[in-house]
Amino acid sequence: MSILYFKSLLSICMIILSIIAMFTMLEIIGKGERKYNIEKLKKIHKANGALYFIIFLFITYFCLSFIINSKSELSARSTFHSIFALTIIVLMALKVSFIRIYRQFYGKVQTLGILIALITFGLMGTSGGYYLLVTEFGIDKTFDKMMEYKTGNPVKTADRKEGARIVVRTDPESILKGKGLYESKCFRCHKATSTEWHVGPGHKGIMKNQFLPVSKKPATPENIANQLRNPLKDMPSYAHLPDEDILNIIAYLNTL
Ligand code: HEC
Repeated sequence: MSILYFKSLLSICMIILSIIAMFTMLEIIGKGERKYNIEKLKKIHKANGALYFIIFLFITYFCLSFIINSKSELSARSTFHSIFALTIIVLMALKVSFIRIYRQFYGKVQTLGILIALITFGLMGTSGGYYLLVTEFGIDKTFDKMMEYKTGNPVKTADRKEGARIVVRTDPESILKGKGLYESKCFRCHKATSTEWHVGPGHKGIMKNQFLPVSKKPATPENIANQLRNPLKDMPSYAHLPDEDILNIIAYLNTL
């Protein structure tokens, strides 16, 4: 089982924990007839919260280590995801402080609880939910491979002599510019939608594979930049292109 799949299953657990938390909270504060023992419910609510927090920290560790290893810019989805996560931390800290220290705000605790549960749905939708959807519940492994590649510590595999490390751009603007450059400069010799040879090798999945098709060097952005500046043999050199253009072309190749 891949770590991403495992994390997605944990995120389903967090949703279940949020539902239990809401249910126990409503039963505790609900004015109607009490079906359950209040003390027991409080204990369950507390243990539930603690478990939620432990899973939260566990997943956070993997998210942060992914950011550190991949050194890539956050996508729109990950940005939302991190904002949700940060909001939950703040709300949880507030909630605990209202219960333990600032008792005069105790009345706000329920609202905070509901907010935390709601944001948890957003948090999970933008991570585990998304993952389960694109991988068809863990069956399609393409997404895992892509992530593995991104975290595969490119510094180790890159040919360091060729110059500084390149951080692959993931913003739509760079990708679009790269696409334009690709279509005007590379398209006549390379296919973007398959790995078939035209004049040169097809580029589908070029940066998701482990090795480049001809040189068999690791498929790192550094090695692609190097191919553009010092091509192997039959490809024209693009050494005259500014770094900007090369970075944008790489941003586009990264999406193929
Ligand atoms: C005139 C045809 C031609 C054009 C235009 C061209 N290439 Fe190539 N490309 C080739 C050939 C042929 C190869 C096979 C290796 C070689 O001969 O250098 C190749 C190989 C490659 C490789 C694989 C290198 C490896 O190490 O396996 C990459 C990546 C690549 N090209 C990217 C590009 C990009 C990006 C552009 C546009 C900026 C481009 N090429 C434009 C012909 C071309």
